[in-house]
Amino acid sequence: MAENTDTATLTIKGKTYELPVHSPSGGPDVIDIRKLYGQADVFTYDPGFTSTAACDSTITYIDGDKGELLHRGYPIDQLASKSHYLEVCYLLLYGELPSADELETFERLVTNHTMIHEQMHNFFRGFRRDAHPMATMVGVIGAMSAFYHDSTDITDAHQREVASIRLIAKMPTIAAMAYKYSVGQPFVYPRNDLDYAANFLHMCFSVPAEEYNVNPILSRAMDRIFTLHADHEQNASTSTVRLASSSGANPFACIAAGIACLWGPAHGGANQACLEMLKEIGTVDRIPEFIARAKDKNDSYRLMGFGHRVYKNFDPRATVMKESADEVLDLLGVENNPVLQVAKELEKQALADPYFAEKKLFPNVDFYSGIILEAMGFPTSMFTPIFALARTVGWISQWKEQLADPQLKIGRPRQLYLGEMARDYVDIEKR
Ligand code: SDX
Repeated sequence: MAENTDTATLTIKGKTYELPVHSPSGGPDVIDIRKLYGQADVFTYDPGFTSTAACDSTITYIDGDKGELLHRGYPIDQLASKSHYLEVCYLLLYGELPSADELETFERLVTNHTMIHEQMHNFFRGFRRDAHPMATMVGVIGAMSAFYHDSTDITDAHQREVASIRLIAKMPTIAAMAYKYSVGQPFVYPRNDLDYAANFLHMCFSVPAEEYNVNPILSRAMDRIFTLHADHEQNASTSTVRLASSSGANPFACIAAGIACLWGPAHGGANQACLEMLKEIGTVDRIPEFIARAKDKNDSYRLMGFGHRVYKNFDPRATVMKESADEVLDLLGVENNPVLQVAKELEKQALADPYFAEKKLFPNVDFYSGIILEAMGFPTSMFTPIFALARTVGWISQWKEQLADPQLKIGRPRQLYLGEMARDYVDIEKR
């Protein structure tokens, strides 16, 4: 816990209270209000938690003004260019970059857990073929607590570790199965001779009828997309996982809750919504029409892939993602992809528009990821499942960190009640 470095004075109803102030490694100081309600009989009010720290953490740090994202202190652009997803998983889970031996052991452990219980295949067949893959993933991940009951005791450190590895290892298999089921193709088993990203692409795009060789540039881009989505402080889905876990729910149920929250278009669903928006715009000459709608106070329309609760300058992940988009589309010979042209022109026009500059609305991680995923052959419905796959390590790392906190208690926000106070029941004949 950070030490008290200052105190804040609050005067209310004629009484004055001293509140401890803690200084973090980075970011704003925090005023500790844990004793405020007991002392002053008042709540604080912060819908959306825009100014509230719900926990302390050592995993990820974001500086929204500088456009900085650190995982255990390492900048995201260095990790995206020099590391790879499973090494970043190790870093997020255990706090330090692994030695060569530690990495080899960790990768082998994940590789040996990529298959799912054979009986889970039947579970998929209960869904309609046209079910959104996110619906399938919420259901199947939640059901893992029924198939892997031996790693649901959150008080057992070994079981927490087993559940963590199982989830990181099996998410690609389950996401690929959700995709295969939606296109009516047979499930493809994971292969231990492929790395994490190549295995996922192989499970998605190979068919029994012929050999499928994973293009190394595409698997590198896939791995980079996983890395860029791995963790992101206390975003909505991570906060959902933490709140679910605070009740003692098992890890599979908590991750299923995180997947459900991520699905929303204001959060992880934005990559699908963004690509659908770019396709709706269709051509560069229609961009002004959509920008006008996004600026219209009487129109709730928003540019998907723009804006962020924390980044008020630029999303460092979008910068790296943009480079990958150029590489992948160049490789595929679709650098003239009309969607990419619209995306680049939309970004240029939006960033030149005072409305977006004033409101600090910049392309976020979802703006370019969809373009790469579509170029790789994924349908838009698979964009958010891929985000969920990548974010599982972040959810799990935050889940483990919270469970290790001796001060952990069940999360239970209060409210500003504006409803009726006590009144007597009125019989129907008198209403
Ligand atoms: C992710 O939290 C995380 O870290 C999330 C994430 C992660 O890795 O976990 O980074 C992943 O979710 C990225 C965000 C993806 N969502 C989108 O791209 C959807 C479009 N963006 C917006 O819905 C919005 O920008 C949010 C939800 C992302 C952020 O909203 P905020 O910070 O709460 O801002 P706001 O809704 O209060 O808007 C502030 C103003 C408003 O105008 P006024 O009421 O002040 O006049 O900016 C406007 C909004 O209307 N605005 C937009 C806009 N986003 C905000 N106007 C047009 N287009 C937009 N995209």
